[in-house]
Amino acid sequence: MDSILVTGNGPLNGQIPIAGAKNACLTLMPATLLSDEPLTLTNAPRLSDIRTMSDLLRSLGAEVSSLQHGKVLAMSSHDLSNLRADYDIVRKMRASILVLGPLLARAGQAEVSLPGGCAIGARPVDLHLRALEALGAEMDLRDGYVHAKAPAGGLRGGVIDFPLVSVGATENALMAATLAKGTTVIRNAAREPEIVDLARCLRKMGAQIEGEGEAEITVEGVDRLHGATHQVVTDRIELGTYMLAPVICGGEVELLGGQMELVRSFVEKLDEAGVEVSESEAGLKVRRRNGRVRAVDVVTEPFPGFPTDLQAQMMALMCTAEGTSVLEEKIFENRFMHAPELMRMGAKIDVQGGTARVTGVERLRGAPVMATDLRASVSLILAGMAAEGETRVSRVYHLDRGYENVVEKLSAVGAKIERIHDQ
Ligand code: EPZ
Repeated sequence: MDSILVTGNGPLNGQIPIAGAKNACLTLMPATLLSDEPLTLTNAPRLSDIRTMSDLLRSLGAEVSSLQHGKVLAMSSHDLSNLRADYDIVRKMRASILVLGPLLARAGQAEVSLPGGCAIGARPVDLHLRALEALGAEMDLRDGYVHAKAPAGGLRGGVIDFPLVSVGATENALMAATLAKGTTVIRNAAREPEIVDLARCLRKMGAQIEGEGEAEITVEGVDRLHGATHQVVTDRIELGTYMLAPVICGGEVELLGGQMELVRSFVEKLDEAGVEVSESEAGLKVRRRNGRVRAVDVVTEPFPGFPTDLQAQMMALMCTAEGTSVLEEKIFENRFMHAPELMRMGAKIDVQGGTARVTGVERLRGAPVMATDLRASVSLILAGMAAEGETRVSRVYHLDRGYENVVEKLSAVGAKIERIHDQ
């Protein structure tokens, strides 16, 4: 397994390009199953999760061609030869559950392995199943698989009332509803930019959708969808992650392709902490206003609230902020695993359930640490970039799931960082 070696260095300066959004691409790709015509995605990120989703779609009989070094995905699911998503692929990536809705809508049935939990929580899929049952599907859970079946005449439009906001369940429901007969209303829908991007792509394919980005989405089912070409929206989590690099290290960095509306609540928090974010021709420029940032409190919420996927990175910043910060993780039940690793670097963190109290120190000290999940891994790199001495982050396969070329991107702005190929 590889490690990343990072040595605390001076201020950063330069530009970092932001890629297409992993979490948009992972729902746009299964959308190809909804049509027998080709769907092409541009601005796709080059990540292991995208390769896993490509393998899953191919196992169902879809064709997926990765062009232009992975930035373009040309897909076609003219012949779906297999309606079973096997455990050995699904267990590698929970987003595999997003083939369930499209397969039900297109082929009337599907067998999808239950994804199982992951490091940050149990990650149930009950809301996905209830949403599809509201469209007439029958769900039978046995031998670790969801055996799903649509009514003989196909899915029927219905009212889906989510008791809590779920990004994935909203995506499954939205995709399935595009081919359900009649009208579907999705209430308490997720409002993330990735949902908006999915709706825009589905509309290009001929879907009739209104209200995406709001809490209520209405879909008029159509008989079939046609092909399209769609550009994947910018990755707001990669954007937010790299925005913190000049904040933690000093200097000024321009994030190419960054859009303010993707990270507004995050920017408000950074402003409170003493960080200046300005819009430029090419994206967003970020720098500390003066010296050490101030501690701020954070509560993670569904969009447009503070993103849970930026909580670990924000904690790394708060470890060297002036004062005490209280971070509340309200989306996932176990998303503070980066805290003990940051404490090995001298951070002062007290975790009680879903709340972490961080008392900033002048400077962290480099240490060997271990990545536990995707966003934790990058928070340790951010911390190491400003720490005294050397930090070695092991198990960086987590990192490769969500960040392309992290060493190149950070080196280009002056970070001392390299990838070590462990035996
Ligand atoms: C998506 O996961 C993202 N993944 C996650 O990003 C992100 O953290 C999360 O949304 C929240 O924004 C992708 O888009 C591929 P949820 P998802 O359903 O859809 C509970 C990353 O780092 N829940 O919105 O799985 C669930 O346990 C990843 O890129 C149910 O109870 O998240 C959680 O507590 C990590 N039943 C809450 O809802 C369900 O059926 C929100 O989960 C589904 C979810």
